Amino acid sequence: MASGAKPLVFVTGAAGLLGSEIVYQLLEAGYSVRGAARGRKLPLLKTAFASYPRFEAVEILDVASSDFTAAFKGVDAVIHTAAPLPGRTDHGTVLNTAIVGSLHIIREAHKAGIKKFVSTSTMLTFPPNEYGPDDWTPITKEQAVQGTPIDVYIAEKKFSDQAVLEFADQHPEMDVTIFCPPWIFGPSAPGFEHIVPEPDFVSFSTNGFVYQLLRPENTNYIYFPGLIDVRDVARIHVAALNPLTDDHPKRVPMASPYQSDFRDAIQYIFDELPELRARLADPNTVPRWPTYQVDLDPSPVEKAFGINSYKTWKETVLDAVDRFLDIEKQWTDKGLKFEVPSMPPV
Ligand SMILES: NC(=O)c1ccc[n+]([C@@H]2O[C@H](COP(=O)([O-])OP(=O)(O)OC[C@H]3O[C@@H](n4cnc5c(N)ncnc54)[C@H](OP(=O)(O)O)[C@@H]3O)[C@@H](O)[C@H]2O)c1
Repeated sequence: MASGAKPLVFVTGAAGLLGSEIVYQLLEAGYSVRGAARGRKLPLLKTAFASYPRFEAVEILDVASSDFTAAFKGVDAVIHTAAPLPGRTDHGTVLNTAIVGSLHIIREAHKAGIKKFVSTSTMLTFPPNEYGPDDWTPITKEQAVQGTPIDVYIAEKKFSDQAVLEFADQHPEMDVTIFCPPWIFGPSAPGFEHIVPEPDFVSFSTNGFVYQLLRPENTNYIYFPGLIDVRDVARIHVAALNPLTDDHPKRVPMASPYQSDFRDAIQYIFDELPELRARLADPNTVPRWPTYQVDLDPSPVEKAFGINSYKTWKETVLDAVDRFLDIEKQWTDKGLKFEVPSMPPV
């Protein structure tokens, strides 16, 4: 890296909900970014950030097996977000891709002399259980493959976190951070409209649960409470490139400190965007839980990464809906037909 120049950061899953927001924030902060995507998403990713000369898109066909030698040339830090979401492929492939993929990429990064590795995991335990850096779900791989897509997803994250932590223990010269967010929602990043030039609801990832609030017959909601705004998750990942302490925790849960009920989300849209009232889901279909918030100690995130403010649920919902309307307008302007899908996004 030339002296004074900002580091070059490699981002996997750069065309995803979280990856694209991380790329956007890095570029806005002056970093150079090499973003990885696969197949048809590669040209779309190039277009999404074409206005930034410091952005380059590269193809990584499979994080679990691709050769990273050329892709990691000149790279100073890796932010690894790529992973299969629940139900995207068969149980065995999901487990393998996530666990082998995380290990493969951290090993390749180490081989390339990269000293910083930041990875996205997920919340592994749900309210009312403890949700801290040392809390793990008891699920085994055998139980997971017999279970639901969510069981497999939780297991893929548990075992890839454990593999990465073991590698980190053996390589203290590498600064490793694993973030564990709950459900992620919020406005898709500027440029994301180019990732979805035509209706493609899978690409909205979990944000599809917010999009489905714009469907009167909707009954799809998240399966357990706990969420965070995509902009906050991305900000915390970017902050991990320059932690405030050398001895920060390696595994860091995060969550919105606000009560975040989808009934309120429907009310916010009803109040602030009256033109959407006829499209809104029925608030009586939203599940009732004792709490809509994760009881989490936010101080590790503040102490190590300097972040102590979070988007409110109202900001998350209304900003997300604004972006869905932008994207719908681009489809309508092209004469494309679409309907909010009836299947849950994950
Ligand atoms: N969304 C949430 O609520 C949530 C909550 C907690 C944690 N997370 C974690 O956050 C990360 C990003 O999630 P997201 O919501 O942004 O998901 P996303 O939009 O689906 O993005 C993930 C990206 O990873 C890519 N990918 C998946 N498997 C791959 C493989 N084997 N090789 C190369 N690329 C692969 C996908 O590529 P394609 O588009 O080509 O399939 C996709 O672009 C994931 O690790 C996820 O587990 C998400």
